[in-house]
Amino acid sequence: MQYGDFGAVVGYGRQIAVPPGCSAAGREIAIHLDTSIAPRQPVCRPAPATKPPPLTSSLIAELQELVSLIIPIFTADKIFLMDTVVSGIRSTGNLHLGNYFGALKNFLRMQEENNCYFFVADYHSLTTHPHPDDIHANIRQVLAEYLAAGIDPEKATVYVQSDVPEVAELYLLMNMNAYVGELERTTSFKEKIRKHPDNINAGLLTYPVLMAADIIIHKAHKVPVGKDQEQHLEMTRRFARRFNTMYGVDYFPEPDAYNFGKQLMKIPGLDGSGKMGKSEGNGIFLADTSAEIRKKVMRAVTDTGPEKQDSEPSEAVRNLFTIMEVVSEPSTVKFFREQHASCVIRYGDMKKQLAEDIIKVTEPIRIRINEIISDPVYLGKVVSRGAEKARASASATIREVREIIGYRPF
Ligand code: TRP
Repeated sequence: MQYGDFGAVVGYGRQIAVPPGCSAAGREIAIHLDTSIAPRQPVCRPAPATKPPPLTSSLIAELQELVSLIIPIFTADKIFLMDTVVSGIRSTGNLHLGNYFGALKNFLRMQEENNCYFFVADYHSLTTHPHPDDIHANIRQVLAEYLAAGIDPEKATVYVQSDVPEVAELYLLMNMNAYVGELERTTSFKEKIRKHPDNINAGLLTYPVLMAADIIIHKAHKVPVGKDQEQHLEMTRRFARRFNTMYGVDYFPEPDAYNFGKQLMKIPGLDGSGKMGKSEGNGIFLADTSAEIRKKVMRAVTDTGPEKQDSEPSEAVRNLFTIMEVVSEPSTVKFFREQHASCVIRYGDMKKQLAEDIIKVTEPIRIRINEIISDPVYLGKVVSRGAEKARASASATIREVREIIGYRPF
């Protein structure tokens, strides 16, 4: 076993600091509690900022002994299983408030007590044929935005999808059991056909298979995503189940869409209808300046104002309230709702307030984005460490999947 193999662990228990004197001192031990892989076999990971030597068999033996001593002193409530979490965002432009509230905020909370993999979905971005000159900058932008929003590469594995070619191999293998009929019925695919009839490529058709590969390559349990990804998650579960059934194994967990809130979040755009999107031209970006945000919000679509007491706001105004609910104080929302109900609301005032409350959220992030973007050395470190950890996990899965499928060494 080599250092790095820990990345393949699906769930591991609480980390224990190794007592001084043991040759593993300075490391943390993580205990596999996933009995299907390796019952209570300890694995090591480096204490932050140290690069460990490979695990030797004598070190493993020593750790095993150590763990057998330690396990009895855990009481049940102290051991917890870490779930594995995977999520990604396509590198097709700057992140907007929809990404932030729909996905990123959940990532931040999840990284505290899960084994998290957050990646930049740059293979996925190829469906729209970006110019080669833009690919790298797009990836860098999303990475910087992840980090600026608070994703901590010491806690989560942060990586670029195309740095992990094992994903492409799993995608190929999973494609054999994905049926054209079900792929053609996917809502996102039908949407794409409708909007871009001139570019119906096979990558678009099999997008849900690639997404499933992203997720199950780390044998994830939870996937924090926005509401628009629910169907893709449903398909991921189906593909995972199908693989298990086909080979008579209980290998891939069926991952669930996950959100800390009551429901999956959908942030509307500023143009009166629909969700906020990167390509819809209706978004507020984390990287927008305060002036840009004020301008966009002041231009947001509203209506001519309520005419009857207690009337339901129109969709455009409802959308502004939805955004307000996530960025503003409850008392602010209440104030404007009451003003609307009694027909005295001035949308200009509401928008001014909304813009300021959005800026409160985005301004510190924007400043950090700019700092991080201008630090290529830091970004390079994060990316290479992330790739190493993600590949350790992914290659273990590929090894096992190939074996399940029937490949044997010569
Ligand atoms: N399809 C997702 C989106 O458009 C991005 C994505 C790709 C993803 N692979 C993933 C999300 C795996 C979660 C898990 O937003």
